Parts: sequence; C-alpha cells; structure tokens
Amino acid sequence: MFIILVPTLAILANGQSQSSCLVQKRIEAKQNTAIEDSPFSVQQHQCIDNYVQEVRQVLPHYDLSDRRFGGLSRASATRAPILGAGFGTTATRSLAVFARQFGLKVHHYDAEAPSWLELDKHLTRPCGETSYLNEIDFQHILLEEEHDLLLDTPMAEFFLDFYAASPQSKVLLTHRDPQDWAEKRSQFKNNLPLPLQSPCEFTLDNISTADAAKLFTAHEKLVRCMVPPEKLLEINVFEPQTLNTTSVAMFLGAPAPEHYVPFPRISGKGVTRTSEDPEDADAPHDKQKKISLCITGQIRRLELRTKINRLILPLMAGGARVEVLLVLDPRNNTAFIHRGAGERIGNFTIMEGPYQSLSDTVDAFPSGVSVVFDPFMAQDFPIDPRYAAGMALNQTAALEGALERARSHVRQWEAMQRCWELMNNLILPDVAIRLRDDDAILETFELPDSFGVHAPSCADCNGLNDKGAIVLGTGNMLGYFTMPLQFMRFAFDSLVDVQRQRTNVPLNPESVLLNSMMLAQVPVQRLGPNEAPILPAKFLTDGDQAHLCYFQNYNFRPCIRQEIWTYLSSAGKSIYDDADPSELKFLCESNVPPPTGGWPVQSLP
Ligand SMILES: *[C@@H]1O[C@H](CO)[C@@H](O)[C@H](O)[C@H]1NC(C)=O
Ligand SMILES: *[C@@H]1O[C@H](CO)[C@@H](O)[C@H](O)[C@H]1NC(C)=O
Ligand SMILES: *[C@@H]1O[C@H](CO)[C@@H](O)[C@H](O)[C@H]1NC(C)=O
Ligand SMILES: *[C@@H]1O[C@H](CO)[C@@H](O)[C@H](O)[C@H]1NC(C)=O
Ligand SMILES: *[C@@H]1O[C@H](CO)[C@@H](O)[C@H](O)[C@H]1NC(C)=O
Repeated sequence: MFIILVPTLAILANGQSQSSCLVQKRIEAKQNTAIEDSPFSVQQHQCIDNYVQEVRQVLPHYDLSDRRFGGLSRASATRAPILGAGFGTTATRSLAVFARQFGLKVHHYDAEAPSWLELDKHLTRPCGETSYLNEIDFQHILLEEEHDLLLDTPMAEFFLDFYAASPQSKVLLTHRDPQDWAEKRSQFKNNLPLPLQSPCEFTLDNISTADAAKLFTAHEKLVRCMVPPEKLLEINVFEPQTLNTTSVAMFLGAPAPEHYVPFPRISGKGVTRTSEDPEDADAPHDKQKKISLCITGQIRRLELRTKINRLILPLMAGGARVEVLLVLDPRNNTAFIHRGAGERIGNFTIMEGPYQSLSDTVDAFPSGVSVVFDPFMAQDFPIDPRYAAGMALNQTAALEGALERARSHVRQWEAMQRCWELMNNLILPDVAIRLRDDDAILETFELPDSFGVHAPSCADCNGLNDKGAIVLGTGNMLGYFTMPLQFMRFAFDSLVDVQRQRTNVPLNPESVLLNSMMLAQVPVQRLGPNEAPILPAKFLTDGDQAHLCYFQNYNFRPCIRQEIWTYLSSAGKSIYDDADPSELKFLCESNVPPPTGGWPVQSLP
C-alpha cells in the first residue's frame, strides 16, 4: 500500500498536475482508509505491514487492513499516560506495585471496571471481523480514570489502538524470554488470547508454544519499530541484574530516588488483581487468608531471622499468602534512641544488624512471599511542643532528650501511615501485622481472629504497646496505621483531653496510640506473651560470640512467658548491669559465632 503513497509524493515533487494527484489519492484512499486519518507516520505504517507479514508466518489469514487504530479516538488528547505494551505474565503486577510506590495512579488489569470488561470481551470475538473494533473510543477508555500508567491485558493486545489514541505517550515494554513466556502462559486454566494485535477467539490452545513465542517476538519488534527510542523503556524483571530501578523510576517521571529501591517481589497469588494468574482469574473470592506484615524502623537495626522463621514461614505453611512491606529508613546516620550501636554493657557491645541497605535483604526472604522494599525517610512533621514538654517533665531526661524522642515517635507514626499507603497498593489484607525493625518473635503463635487491634499486653506504659500489633478489619487497619499521626498533627487537644480523663501522667507514644484508637473507635485487645510473643531485641557481641538479646526490665519482663524465660536464663546468656550486677539487663537466646550468613535462630521450648 505504501508503494502507492511514495509515488504520490514523488509526483507532487515533480510538479505534476493536480488531477493526476487526486486520482492517485483516491486509489490510495480506497486501498487504505486507515492512513487518511491515522496518527501514525508512513514509517509507522511500514512497521505495521512488517508485523502483519511476520504474523502470517504463523497465522496465514491474519489481516489488519480493516482496522482504524484508535477506533473513534479524537486526534489530540490532553493527557498522555504511559502505556504498558507488554503482555500479561511479564511481571506487570510488580511493575504496578513499583509505580504506585512512587505515587503513580496505575491501572492494572481490573476485572470489574465496565469499559475494560467490555474491551476484554472483544479479545474473544469471532475471527475474521475486525471492523467493529473501529467503533470503540479507545481514547475515552484510556483517559477516563486519569491513570498515569496502564498495564496488562488488554493493553498489549490493543497496543496499536491505545498508541494511536495517545501518540505522545511513553511506552514501557515488559520483556521476558519468549519461550518461557509462552510455556508459562499456556499453563493457565482459562484459554488466553494469542499475543497478537486485535486478537480474536483463537487462544494459546490453538497454537504451539513455539508459534506463540514467535508472535510474542513479532509484537516486541512492532513496539520497538513504532515507538521512538527516547520514549520507550524495556525492562526484564526476570533478569534482575539488568534492572536499574532508578532509571525505571525516572522514566515514570519520578525524581531519582536518593536510596536504591529494589524492585518489588510480587509472587504467589491474589496479591493484586491480575490477569496474570490463573487462580485469580477464576477465583476472586478465594478463601486463602491474605496477610500483610509491615516492618517499620531503620535498616541498620533490622532483625529478620526470627520474623521469617517464627512468623512468616509458619503462616505460609498454614496456607496464608504473605506480603511483607519494608518501610525502613535507609540512612546510616539515624541514631537509635535507646542504646545505640557501639554502646558497651559490661563485656558486651551493641552491634548494628546484618543489613546495610534494603538490597541486602532481598535474598533473606523465602520464595513465595511477596516483598515491597520502601526506603522511607520521614518528613519529620512538626508536632505540638506540649508533647515533648510533657515527656520531659515525667522523665528525668531534659527537654532536649525529650525532643529527640518525640521526633523518633513521629517518625514511627509517619512510617505506619506509609504502611497503610503501601497496603493500599495491593489488595487489602485480611490481617495486617505491624512490627518494629528490632522486634523479635520468640515463638510461633496463632493469629487472633476477632476484629480490632491486638497488641501485646506487656510494656503498655499507661497506653497500648506500640512495638507491634495484629489488626483485623479494614476500618481498624486504617485507624491503627493512620490515626496516631493524624491526631498528633491536627488534633493534639483531643489526645490531651482523652489522656486527662484516663490518667494524670503526660502523653507518651503508648498513650498516643491508645487514645487515638479510642477517639477513632477502634476496638483494642491485649494479648498475653503466649498469644503475641513479640518484643524488641538487640544484637550484642562479646568479641567472638554474637547474641540476640531481649532488653529486660520491669516493663519487658512480662513479654516473655515463664517457660521461655526459665529456658533463656539457664541455656542462654544473661547480661547484667555494669553498676549493679544483680540487675538483669539482657537475656539472650543465641550464643554462636558472629554472623557470616545471618543470625542463627534456634527453637525455644
Ligand atoms: C481452539 O482451541 C479451543 C480450546 O482448546 C477449541 O475449543 C477450538 O475448537 C480451537 N479452535 C480451532 C479453530 O482450532
Ligand atoms: C541506574 O540508572 C541511573 C539513572 O539513569 C544511573 O544514574 C545509574 O548510574 C544507574 N546505575 C547502574 C548501576 O547502572
Ligand atoms: C553513610 O552514607 C554516606 C552517603 O550516604 C557515606 O558517604 C558515608 O561514608 C556512610 N557512613 C558510614 C559510616 O557508612
Ligand atoms: C568480663 O571479662 C573478663 C575477662 O574475660 C571477666 O573476668 C569478667 O568477669 C567479665 N565481666 C563480666 C561482667 O562478665
Ligand atoms: C511517668 O510517670 C508515671 C507516674 O509516676 C509512671 O507511672 C510512668 O511510667 C512514667 N513514664 C511514662 C513514660 O509515662
């Protein structure tokens, strides 16, 4: 068809008569109405022709000549969202989670949205008809919900339509080894459409995986041919060593992150709505329990081994889907408020944990668990000066120390709010667990099953233990994760009022948490040490031996149930106060050489 167009231009250039030009134009119009009102250039039409030729090697009758790409789309659009041009099963859902981490509004296969549902139907229309796709307003569908990035089925299948509807868009092509893709994709229970522009009722069942791989490759060639290189980014999540998330973030329009953000590991099923997974497609009301564990604090203080071995793995073994959200300050100069690294206690020295950056944690997680890595730096919102003043009065510490503590408390509440944002980027869980960086899990435990916030009963300091909680119920999750910060920033007086009604001691983080829950009408329950064996721990070394040690005072003593306390007192290491050798400071459970491959975890009675 372009053979005709090129002579037309040549004739014009040669100054031939206008009539011969018009004749020529009419022939051209008859043969290809698409070019007339197409936003695509001559070169781009050549890309499409080449694509059709390649597809015909697999599907001899494949034809796009009736298509007006973009359907009823108007030529110019006000917005140009980023288009995902990769088929499902190319890790589009991890990309969606990643982009949402940077605040983008992302469309990822949504089996409930009406106009997308409508488009999905067209994927399985009878073969041999393409014209009624021309009656769809692709631009309207693309822009109606003001997404910044659109991914997964049917973005790839209608790539030419969406690109025609938004030719200024940048394009993200999620790549994967074609044969791997075809094999993985054909394992799905529901017959999925062919990796083809304007596909029809033929499915992957109708062709070999080798042919599916050929179509997949032809599609990628088409995308590379259509999109100018500066507007195209290809990523292959299956080869993490090729992935530079900083440049992905910048392509998405986000500022270059100051600290490296490892690409999220979204594995398992049902973590996001997706067409990538066969289970999801036909089991949206899956009974499998979904659990989010958000860990807040600082990377340098992170304890992971007991969290993984005594919480995450047992939950997964019990059939739950677990996603971990690491909301951790990546900076190396954040001070630990109580007992920082390097501090000595008798012959022992407090150490940093085994992780220097979020990238260091990637391999620590077992397969099958989803992980979102979020190097989080709090904004340190200003808070009411009465908060620190109150803590300074109650404690012997001066105001300066109280201000320092207050800042650390606000960081904690900010991080909790970030947990909620990240949780919202996935499907909200049945159970949300929040742990601090330095929390250790003493033993495996059963999750509670009643709605509300469940926190350890120990170390409540006139309020609610703020070291960890297990939350059931979406409204309660919203309350637990976001209200302490909201009240501290915008309704401090309400916190003070509740405090006055409850007690005459000033506010501290535990009472801010409890008062916030009371004000937000979130039910609170306290769990004994066998029901929530969660308490902060530190890494201590005495030279060639390393220990995971639990801080012991009147406050934390009730966090350990008697049998474990007795066991640790005899089999573990007990560390006493320098000044008063009768005062127990730490009770340690491991007594092993310092970490080379991480911290060992033994099982306790
Ligand atoms: C394509 O595959 C489906 C499912 O296996 C089958 O029902 C259908 O008859 C096949 N169509 C053709 C044309 O082979
Ligand atoms: C990743 O991309 C950023 C931005 O393009 C670049 O500055 C950085 O050097 C890249 N890192 C690596 C390891 O290639
Ligand atoms: C802390 O990080 C900065 C850069 O972010 C680096 O220059 C410095 O050497 C680091 N210090 C330590 C003790 O790791
Ligand atoms: C510290 O180590 C020294 C020498 O090994 C030992 O004599 C002393 O008892 C230890 N002190 C404590 C408090 O354990
Ligand atoms: C504050 O003072 C009260 C009463 O003396 C005491 O019970 C409480 O533990 C103190 N500390 C905090 C942080 O509230």
